[in-house]
Formats: sequence, C-alpha cells, structure tokens
Amino acid sequence: MSGVIEVRNLVKDYGPRRALHGINFSIPAGRVVGLLGPNGAGKSTTMRILTTFIAASEGDAVIAGHHVDEAPLKVREKIGYMPETLALYPEMRVEEFLRYRAGIKGVKKPAARIEACMARTELSDRRRSLIGSLSKGYKQRVGLADALLGNPPILILDEPTVGLDPNQVQRVRELILELGKEHTLLLSTHILSEVEAVAGHAIIISQGRIKADAPLETLRASLAGRRRLLLGAPGDGADLRALAEKLPGATALETLAAPAGECRLAVSVEGERDLRLEAFRAAKERHVELVELRAEQFTLEEVFRHLTREEAESDLEGLGVAKEPGSLALDAAPAEQPAGAVAEPAAEKPAGAKEH
Ligand SMILES: Nc1ncnc2c1ncn2[C@@H]1O[C@H](COP(=O)(O)OP(=O)(O)OP(=O)(O)O)[C@@H](O)[C@H]1O
Ligand SMILES: [Mg+2]
Repeated sequence: MSGVIEVRNLVKDYGPRRALHGINFSIPAGRVVGLLGPNGAGKSTTMRILTTFIAASEGDAVIAGHHVDEAPLKVREKIGYMPETLALYPEMRVEEFLRYRAGIKGVKKPAARIEACMARTELSDRRRSLIGSLSKGYKQRVGLADALLGNPPILILDEPTVGLDPNQVQRVRELILELGKEHTLLLSTHILSEVEAVAGHAIIISQGRIKADAPLETLRASLAGRRRLLLGAPGDGADLRALAEKLPGATALETLAAPAGECRLAVSVEGERDLRLEAFRAAKERHVELVELRAEQFTLEEVFRHLTREEAESDLEGLGVAKEPGSLALDAAPAEQPAGAVAEPAAEKPAGAKEH
C-alpha cells in the first residue's frame, strides 16, 4: 500500500454508539476524492481522526507516512483542514485573522503566503472586512485560505459548499477544482452531484461502513448500466413471483408497494440484459395477466440511494456489489483501477500494531 492517506480498520465509538465499523481506504497522492454519504454516515468522524482532532477507538490512519496517533504534529503539517463548523473570529478582519493563524501554524514568510492565499481564494479585496460581516460563501473562502496557509500537500474539506447559494456553490467548486490540480484532496459531501462536479473518485460511506470505493466511471459502468424489470399483476403475486424467479439473468426480487389487489415486483437483472420480451412470453405461457411490464435503468443517483439505504443490503447483489466482511466492494472494477482502490476486508492485525 502506498497511499498518501491510508486508513486501516478504523473504528470509532462515541460511548456505546459505534460511528465507524472498521473502515479501510487508501488515497494515492494527487487524487481528488469525494467522501460521499448521508447525514450521520461518519464522514466528519473520519476526517477528524485523519486530522488528529479526535482519536480512533481502534485501527490506524497514516498520512504521508506518519501515524496519526504517533506523530500528530507531523500529520497536521501535511494537511490543510476545513472543518464542518469553521472556527472563525467574527470580530477579526480577514487579513488579521490569517496573520494570526499563520503565526500559530509557524508559516515561513507569512506576509507573502497570506497574500498568495487571499489571491487564490479571491479574498484580496475583502482583506479589511470584519469576518462577522461576510456572507457564508466568503466565510468559506476564509476557511479555505486558512487551510492553504501552510501550503500543505493534502487538503481535507468537510462539506465545503453546505449552506451556500447556487452561485457561491459554483464558485467554491471552481476553486476546489483548481486546488485539486496541486493537492491530494478529500472532500465530504452528501450530494452526489458535488462529487461529479469536482472529483473523479468516490468513497461511499453509510452508517460507518464503506459501501463503494471507485472512480465514478467505474461506478457508472458497473452499476448504473444495470437494469431492473418492473412487473405487475393482479392477485397476491404468487404466479408473478414464480415467473420472475425463472427469468434468465434475474438476480434478485423486490416486492414494491402496489394498489390493493395487485402485486408489483422489481427484478434485478444481470448486466444490461433487457428481459421484457422474455417476461411477456413467460406471462403468456403461464397465463399471468400483466398490468405492468417496464425496464428501468439505474442512474448514478439511484445507485447512491441504494447503497446508502438502510434496507439496501438485500438488493446489493442485483446492483453488482459483492459483500465482504465489514465492507462492500465493487465486483466489476476495470483492470486499470489501482490496487487498494476497492475496499478491503478488515486488516488482520491487532489494533495499534504498526507496519513499516
Ligand atoms: N461527539 C459525538 N458524540 C456522540 N456521537 C457523535 C459525536 N459526533 C458524531 N456522533 C455520531 O456519530 C455518527 C457519525 O457522525 P458524523 O458527524 O461523523 O457523520 P457525518 O457523516 O459527518 O454526518 P453529517 O452529514 O450530518 O455531517 C452519527 O450517528 C453521530 O450522531
Ligand atoms: Mg459531518
């Protein structure tokens, strides 16, 4: 493993509540990754551990070769972190705040660096503004400028566009795209389109578990191309279910909500097969009256919803996702995908044991 960010079997308990269930991932230098998951998934918890603000309960994280629990100061030198809730001082002016932060971080030649960071985040003409008087979008820029001060190779941004209006979202995204050219960048979000806008790679997390870890093209190709066949028939659906189970290439069945006296089924289908004609013929042969027969293709958004839905695990086989102990990995990763990009089973080493 040679990622600049290595996460190994990370567990975090908040009292009796387990927020992370032994997650693993590896991010090579230069990659821009979206850590994508719904509220409470464990995104901020993961980021706080990586940035040494909280300690893991078990497992290990290594940043540019430094273990978070052994060398937290070295780790902090390598990372520019924009937390979920910015710790800004509203009574300070932008430049004054950045000067104060540069002092804390021990930034060399601070005046030139502050100038460069303000220019980068388009804050130069707001240098005299009180932080408390800035719009949310500009406050986010101050947070970004702060993260950039030490010129760190790695940026970790926790929901950088949350709460911004669409114009501000666009401008912050453009800035992130620029930053991604020079930094290894991990940003969290609960919006798929945000990952699509700025990152080429997604790590999908839900309820403290990694559900997928792959380039977006891989997710699209191996999951979004999959079809479901939607079938409906009058009655209790026993005949319909028997018919659906026999369809060639059907991998999973799900009963959908239906009007009284009807049964609706969603049949997950292998690859991109279209089973409508087979289903029609089988229904004719078995004298099943169909009230619905429709092919449905998954969009990436639906794939994300499936992967992060609590009861989704029963459908996962139909989505081409293989289940592994404690994690789920794509089963159809392309050959060029680097080793380590797919979620690995929990490392079999005692917590706290180190490699190297
Ligand atoms: N300090 C804490 N004490 C107790 N439980 C916590 C604490 N921080 C987080 N949790 C719990 O851990 C789980 C993961 O929270 P976390 O904040 O990491 O999620 P998240 O993915 O960042 O969510 P969001 O999108 O809402 O920011 C949640 O169930 C949350 O309630
Ligand atoms: Mg969060």
